[in-house]
Amino acid sequence: MTSAATEREFKKWRLWGVNKFLEANAALGMEQVDNGRPPTLDLVQSRYFKDKDEADELLTEARSSLREMELKHVILGACDFLDIFPLRTSEENGNVLLTHRNVYRTFGKKEAQGMRLYAEARHAYLRFRRVRDINKLSISQFTEDYLSTNLLMYEYPGGSSEQGLFSTTEVGVSAFDIKLTTSADLSDQADGETTKSTEPSNNVLHTLFELIKHTSYKHYDASNQGWDAENKLEEMKDEDMRYLIVRLAHDAVPESDTRWSKDSSMDHSVVGFLSFMITQEEKENVVYIYEIHMSEHFRGCGLGRHLFNVVEHVGRTTAMDKSMLTVFKSNTRARNWYASRGYEVDEISPKPRKLRGGRSIESDYEILSKHLHDKSNKKNKH
Ligand SMILES: CC(C)(COP(=O)(O)OP(=O)(O)OC[C@H]1O[C@@H](n2cnc3c(N)ncnc32)[C@H](O)[C@@H]1OP(=O)(O)O)[C@@H](O)C(=O)NCCC(=O)NCCS
Repeated sequence: MTSAATEREFKKWRLWGVNKFLEANAALGMEQVDNGRPPTLDLVQSRYFKDKDEADELLTEARSSLREMELKHVILGACDFLDIFPLRTSEENGNVLLTHRNVYRTFGKKEAQGMRLYAEARHAYLRFRRVRDINKLSISQFTEDYLSTNLLMYEYPGGSSEQGLFSTTEVGVSAFDIKLTTSADLSDQADGETTKSTEPSNNVLHTLFELIKHTSYKHYDASNQGWDAENKLEEMKDEDMRYLIVRLAHDAVPESDTRWSKDSSMDHSVVGFLSFMITQEEKENVVYIYEIHMSEHFRGCGLGRHLFNVVEHVGRTTAMDKSMLTVFKSNTRARNWYASRGYEVDEISPKPRKLRGGRSIESDYEILSKHLHDKSNKKNKH
């Protein structure tokens, strides 16, 4: 889920929490401590929204999805509201200041239990805010805070590539530039806007999409999900997606026989890329590697390893718990390669499903991860 969508979920339950709290305690004749006015729904909404329609929409949504409610966020919402707009009961009800304890009681929790839920929700929210705030950064700010520019270049130490097709003399350079970019910037670099290629069209998003198709179509096609171009493009355009795009240094373009595509609408300066997202997965803060694809002519030069080093560096500097990725089980080469980089099957990876009659069905993909702060991973570091 993107940070915008998760934030909406948080807002929904917090708003629901305040609403329910006020409704349930209306008989107390509540008034605001600083001005003696009763709390209104508008006041509640002003805490979370600029737009009243959005608040109405979220309340309706909350009402129809109560089964998914996480009570701790509901409690946090009401407690936070009380902290910002202190309320007391009316004079006739004793003029008593309402506290978090009243919130816990409203939601049927004893004090210790309520305090625990409140603390858990606050902790979860602060962790989420970290992800959201990082995703709001511009590329230059992100680079300044979490990367160092020397990671955005790579020098091939020499020799020939895995395929034997690439050598320093062939294209005249052994150095690569890596550009960090957002999905929005990719789409903006629409046809003919960029400078590196002499080809008529330069849509980088289109190029990256075609590179995925070029290296991995067979794995998608053989899987249960199949190749779904529309879905893939949607995912690529996700607002929190970031790209590390590898090109030959000095604006060089590979000779035509070492290009991964002969299609003239490609940006031929692109020889590979990695896409990732700073996100939450099952409540853990993670850097999720969505794609890594190298042109076959440039494999085995250490570029994939370098891109992983960069993304894991980002994961550590942003204080994510782990880096994660999904791989088709049919992609044995990539699975071996990930294992060589220290990735192991994650606990959330789908388990075989037992059918009636004892047969079990295995998923055709697995989720791998690597803890970024765990000393026990040292043995796997390369
Ligand atoms: C997987 C992939 C990204 C690797 O990138 P790469 O640039 O070729 O890899 P590197 O040159 O950085 O590999 C570096 C190291 O991995 C080792 N290696 C290479 N291929 C390997 C393999 N199949 N299994 C295990 N180790 C491998 C190299 O010997 C080298 O080892 P070292 O670090 O000890 O020196 C690349 O092969 C690729 O694009 N594959 C097709 C697309 C794909 O399947 N992507 C994954 C989608 S989930």
